[in-house]
Formats: sequence, C-alpha cells, structure tokens
Amino acid sequence: MRADARCGKMARFLASAGIMPRPDQRPVGVFDSGVGGLTVLKAMREAMPHEDLLYLGDTARLPYGTKSAASVLRYAHRAAEHLIGYDIKMLVIACNTASAVALDDLQRDLAPLPVVGVVKPGARAAVAARPAARHLVLATEATVRLGAYSRALAEIDEHAEVSEMACEMLVAQAEEGWTEGAVAEAIVRAYLDPVLGSAAKPDSLILGCTHFPILRGVIRSVVGADMSIVDSAVTTASLVQERLRSGGIGGAAGRTGSLRLLATDGGRRFAQVGGTFLGEPLSTEAVEIVDI
Ligand code: DGL
Repeated sequence: MRADARCGKMARFLASAGIMPRPDQRPVGVFDSGVGGLTVLKAMREAMPHEDLLYLGDTARLPYGTKSAASVLRYAHRAAEHLIGYDIKMLVIACNTASAVALDDLQRDLAPLPVVGVVKPGARAAVAARPAARHLVLATEATVRLGAYSRALAEIDEHAEVSEMACEMLVAQAEEGWTEGAVAEAIVRAYLDPVLGSAAKPDSLILGCTHFPILRGVIRSVVGADMSIVDSAVTTASLVQERLRSGGIGGAAGRTGSLRLLATDGGRRFAQVGGTFLGEPLSTEAVEIVDI
C-alpha cells in the first residue's frame, strides 16, 4: 500500500473514532486574471494531490495589471463571489495584482472563509532565499503602483532593500509563449540591462507576476547564475496546505483530487496558453466558460 493511501486509511479511522476532524471534501477555489495563476495551481496540485481544486481565469477582463485599483477590486469581488457559489472551503488569489489590490478587502468581507494571496508568500520566499538582500520586484503596473511587495518585504526583513519595476511587455511575452530565443532575450534585456549595469545592481529578483515563472530560463540567462530568482507558487502552495491543516479543513489523503477549470472567455486560447503554465496539455473541452 502506498504511503499516502496508508495515511488516508489512518485519517479515516481517526475521523470515524472522533479523534481527528472529518476530511472536508469541498474544493479550494483559485482565481487569476487569466492563465498565469495556473503556475500557482500547478504547485498546489503537487503539494496537495488529494484536494479538489476549482480554478477561475477571468480571461474576459485580462489584463488586470494595467487597470485601476477600483476596477481590479470590482473584478476580484465578482470572481470570488462566483467561486463561493461552488461551496469552496478556501479562496486563493493566484494573481499578484489582485492580491495587491483586494486581499485585505476579500479577507474582511468573506470571513470566516480563509483567503490567501500570493504577495506575502512571494516576499517570504525571497527573504528565505537571500536575507538582507537588494531585491528587484518585476510585476505589473498596478502591483508596482501599490508597493505591495515593498511593504511585505519590510515587514519580514528590516534590512531588505527593495525596488520595483513594471514589466507589462513580459506579460504579453509569456502569453505568446516566447520563453526563449533572441526576441525573448532582447525584451528581458530591455528591462534588466539598465539595472544590471548600475551601482544598485540587485542580488535578488522577485517574479511578482504569475506570468513570469515561465520566463525564468530566459531571465536566468540574462542575469547570470549568482542572482537569486524566486516566485510565489511553491510558498503559496505551502501556506494553503498549512491553513487547510490548521483550520481542520483538509481533504482526505490517499485519493486523487479533481481539477475543474473555468474561464470567462476564450476556452480554446485558455487551453492552448494555459497548458504551458500548468505544465501539461489542456483540451478546449476541459475549460468551462462562465459569465460572472
Ligand atoms: N495575473 C497578473 C499578476 O500576477 C498578471 C496578468 C494581468 O495583468 O492580469 O499580476
């Protein structure tokens, strides 16, 4: 018997004996402005293969990163309300822009539903990788405007130095799947060369946008081997796992969780582009179009 199956059997026994909380089989709701949040979903599936996951990509309103905070807040509320209709047990905002704008609001308005964002886990990952570092955050215009990473880093590491750079072109580049080659490198260089050649050269790069992890290879080739490069996917997945455990709302171990994908527009494109972010091919039929 596999270890996770043994765990599942043990958990069911302890639950039936009233020693452990009963497994909570409600899905975890995850949303992003589009397909970028699938990088977070991928890490969640790897960390919690037994949980049912429900993902909503608000592709009709993408990108969030160039919109006003008021619009992003409205979109985030709509996405959250839609997912709540599926009786979710936790909400994960798998979008840096929406986390920067709407995390506090959604946590307050949806309580007691646990709501997790990606900015703080990303900041924690960066400090763990390199304490007292000079961080450069690559993000969308809206995330940079709100200084969300600067605040999150200051809370964790008083010695951290932070600058933030809006890189909207990298969002389009990731969506186009230009993850390598001369054009991909030229775009990354256009953003990074000026800082790499400056006296304030960073030693830590934070990928503060869900689209950027798929550009990690080309970014690495531009910045060289010494700079730390972090994103928030794995640390967000760990935080979700910990919150499910501490809240007594984890699903039964030893089973294979389901994955349901919703999008507000363009199932074919979602499947095509999303496959790269999720790391496995997606079919158009696997994507349900919803109106929110
Ligand atoms: N998901 C967004 C983020 O992480 C990037 C794409 C967008 O601008 O909507 O900030």
